[in-house]
Amino acid sequence: MLTEEQLEKLRKAGRVSGAARELGMSMVKEGVKLYDVAQEVEGYIREHGCGLAFPCNISINEIAAHYTPSCTDKSVFQIGDVVKIDCGAQLDGYVGDTAGTVEVGTNSYRELIESSKRARNTVAEFISDGVALDEIGRTVEMSMRRDGFVPIRNLCGHQIEPYNLHAGLSVPSFDNQDKTQIKAGMVIAIEPFATNGEGMIKDTKPGNIVRYIRDRPLSDPKAQEFVDYVKGEFKTFPFCARSCDFPDAENHVKYLIRHGVLSSYAMLAEVAGGIVSQHEYTFYIDTKKGEVTTLP
Ligand code: CO
Repeated sequence: MLTEEQLEKLRKAGRVSGAARELGMSMVKEGVKLYDVAQEVEGYIREHGCGLAFPCNISINEIAAHYTPSCTDKSVFQIGDVVKIDCGAQLDGYVGDTAGTVEVGTNSYRELIESSKRARNTVAEFISDGVALDEIGRTVEMSMRRDGFVPIRNLCGHQIEPYNLHAGLSVPSFDNQDKTQIKAGMVIAIEPFATNGEGMIKDTKPGNIVRYIRDRPLSDPKAQEFVDYVKGEFKTFPFCARSCDFPDAENHVKYLIRHGVLSSYAMLAEVAGGIVSQHEYTFYIDTKKGEVTTLP
């Protein structure tokens, strides 16, 4: 179990990420730049005493996750876009990880968006000490199928530990027969993705998100300085050049990927080009119940 002090940090990171998510979602309008939304969301997190647990992901339509705008991204939201905002705050390593979906100017995907929300909220009603992972998976899948959609099977919810965003347990969105139980004291992110496609995602091109993997001898002293900055600022968490307060970050990131110091995440796209919606809360599993930490 977390101590009262640790729990306070988890709750604060959760609250800040929840409010940042709402802010981001409220900004998604036709003609608004993706860049501006990402900057506002991350700015909010930092201004409220937290660090970034990962860059603000802004993933549109068939892209399920792992895109964040670069500094030079001029793209804007278009009418009809289905936009996932997934953001994370951390305080001394305690994380709030949360996401929501909005549609720009139309209502064509209202049911799809409701479906991932309903599945997550249904899980919220019973997630607690002793609940098995496959029970959550079954619930998510049944809920989405009743709505006429399918879950994305190869994206999971996840346990979170201090400074480790994807730690330990993976929480399925279908019945994978995993009887492992969730235990009191765990922090768990539940993030079902619903789609009108096939229900699988595949890696596509890099989406500007990277993470530090190992040190390597570097001939460029500035690059080493950048590595030290990154370790101090983001610890072991994913980040992007845009969020770095460091000159020439974009080029340092490229250089460090080439040298194997950073590894880059691929954008995840639905295999059949289906539209994807996602809702996510982080929970603290109490001895009695699951507490949503990421409400604003
Ligand atoms: Co997550």
